[in-house]
Amino acid sequence: MTNLKPVIFTLFAAAALTACQGADAPVKDSAKTATTDKTQTAERIITKDDKFTYANYDEVRVTHLDLNLDVNFDSKVLDGIATIDFERVKPDADMLVLDTKDLLIKSVRIFADGQAEGVTDYTIDTADKVLGEALRIPLTDKTDQILISYRTSPSAEGLQWLSPEQTAGKKHPYLFSQAQALNARTMAPLQDTPAVRMTYSATLRVPDGLLPLMSASQGAKNENGEYRFEMPQPIPSYLLAIAVGDIKFKAINDHIGVYAEDYILDDAAEEFSETPKMEEANTELYGPYRWGRYDMIVLPPSFPFGGMENPRLSFLTPTLVAGDKSLTNVVAHELAHSWSGNLVTNASWLDAWLNEGFTSYVENRVMEELYGEHRAVMEQSLDMASLKSAIAEAKRPELTHLKMPKDIEHPDDAFTSVSYIKGANFLFFLEDRFGREKFDPFLKAWFNDHAFESVTTEDFLAYLHENLHKDNPDAVTRAEIDAWVYGPGIPPTARDPKSDAFEKVAAQSSDWLSGTLALKDMPTADWSTHEWLYFLNNLPEGLTEAQFAELDETFDLTGTQNAEIAFAWYMQAIKGNYDEAYPGLEEFLMTVGRGKFIYRLYAALHDSDREDLQLWAQDIYEIARPGYHPIAQRRIDDIMNG
Ligand code: BES
Ligand code: ZN
Repeated sequence: MTNLKPVIFTLFAAAALTACQGADAPVKDSAKTATTDKTQTAERIITKDDKFTYANYDEVRVTHLDLNLDVNFDSKVLDGIATIDFERVKPDADMLVLDTKDLLIKSVRIFADGQAEGVTDYTIDTADKVLGEALRIPLTDKTDQILISYRTSPSAEGLQWLSPEQTAGKKHPYLFSQAQALNARTMAPLQDTPAVRMTYSATLRVPDGLLPLMSASQGAKNENGEYRFEMPQPIPSYLLAIAVGDIKFKAINDHIGVYAEDYILDDAAEEFSETPKMEEANTELYGPYRWGRYDMIVLPPSFPFGGMENPRLSFLTPTLVAGDKSLTNVVAHELAHSWSGNLVTNASWLDAWLNEGFTSYVENRVMEELYGEHRAVMEQSLDMASLKSAIAEAKRPELTHLKMPKDIEHPDDAFTSVSYIKGANFLFFLEDRFGREKFDPFLKAWFNDHAFESVTTEDFLAYLHENLHKDNPDAVTRAEIDAWVYGPGIPPTARDPKSDAFEKVAAQSSDWLSGTLALKDMPTADWSTHEWLYFLNNLPEGLTEAQFAELDETFDLTGTQNAEIAFAWYMQAIKGNYDEAYPGLEEFLMTVGRGKFIYRLYAALHDSDREDLQLWAQDIYEIARPGYHPIAQRRIDDIMNG
């Protein structure tokens, strides 16, 4: 039994974030119950049916947001003015309701035709734990612009403020945002729903020596030392993004490049050097890239996701920089969102599969294009296995439908393997039945016909019937489609991805287990990360401590720098009580903030029937928590509080 006392690692040391405490609160529905009325506009019918916003976007719609902000690292706040342009959906609308969360609103001024109408008596509702606070602004019949003077909270869930010690360079502080799903409202007052699209612009003032970036055209510094940004394409609020730090740039080609701290810049540019080919493959399949530049930024390790598809500037975890391009499917994924998600957007989080399932599908098609069917099938197979276990663990069957049930309490509940992998597999099913020669042009047309629109599951199904099914009625039945979208589990019509490479690994693994093959004689030198993951994920239950030790000694698994392999190994080590892995696991938990890994690891430790492990996890979490992103803090608080 190893010493289970935590040792402090430096990467996350000395952070001081006031976190929002976890525990789920019921979603208050006050302002939103009487909102199913339909309003006819010139363009299309707008129904207010996003339950995660207070915004009255069926009456008034924000069209442009301008931010003029000081980025203040001393007080950890964004401070300044949000100017909002809007249009009336209902001509007699006399109120604009915006989402805010933890914002300090200092004043609200209303304007008509460029002239000040005065300071208005706005109201702010009491806070809801999930939704935040509705800001209600009365309008005169002439009001067409609103200036809100405000500042964010140091504990805003959408912003992580890192001290210099928490960065690799150690000299300068760092700030990055994460607006999806409900955190744009912790950055600025706005209509925080994917049903509304707006253009935006921003002027930022940052301390000397720091570079600010946004999900927009990157601004040059003006004579006042301010940076100016423009996002001329209309985007949903969750794609608003900012990063500020000692950030350097390296070009990959004339319109694709990488931003990162110095320590990882060259490695990242090399790791992601095939991004131009991914863009070509995407464009070939689904039409032009419509956003101008495509850059990536490698964030500090506390970034809680693998990637985030902020337009023109994908945010990425440094754990992707594995040295062998084995994890670049995440880049393919975030890039693919430039079509599925950013161009054609889910109108509510209950339709999250329209973003994530479509994107996972496109990601896999692009991986196939670049690296061949062999790799694409391995990725499908690993994904299918994790979908199966997620479905087996689902709390109720409705959560395994593609269309999420209306009563989920937080959009996080919609971002499970179901949206991603079942979603992608629905499209694999359609592809198989209609054939690529019909399905590919169909999907391209879907993106093109709905560019810069927000859409629902039902919009997609109607389009599918009208544009593909009607002329090919024998390819699929409505019942088969409905089973995917509105039914539980994995339908019998799903693909069963079979990887030859994995079958070889399975055979070698069972030879080892039956004693006919020594571990050192396994041909692992030829294994890709995917084969390692398959091998580790499929180790049988009940391995002995000696077998774990043999694996570890032969393959140096504890402490491996490939985060995916490390995660797979530590999950097995926890299940199998292989305590020799704990020093490595501890370092992992102290240095990696990516939710996909650490939520599952903390949950496995917390759910362990060994009290020493539960206590060990609590000790580790107490030390690591201040370094985690506020989103990760909320999620792990929930896990650790049962
Ligand atoms: N948009 C998501 C990340 C996200 C989802 C942020 C929900 C906030 C709420 C992003 O595109 C994503 O899916 N990232 C994955 C990548 C993977 C599936 C290839 C991740 O972070 O692991
Ligand atoms: Zn995604």
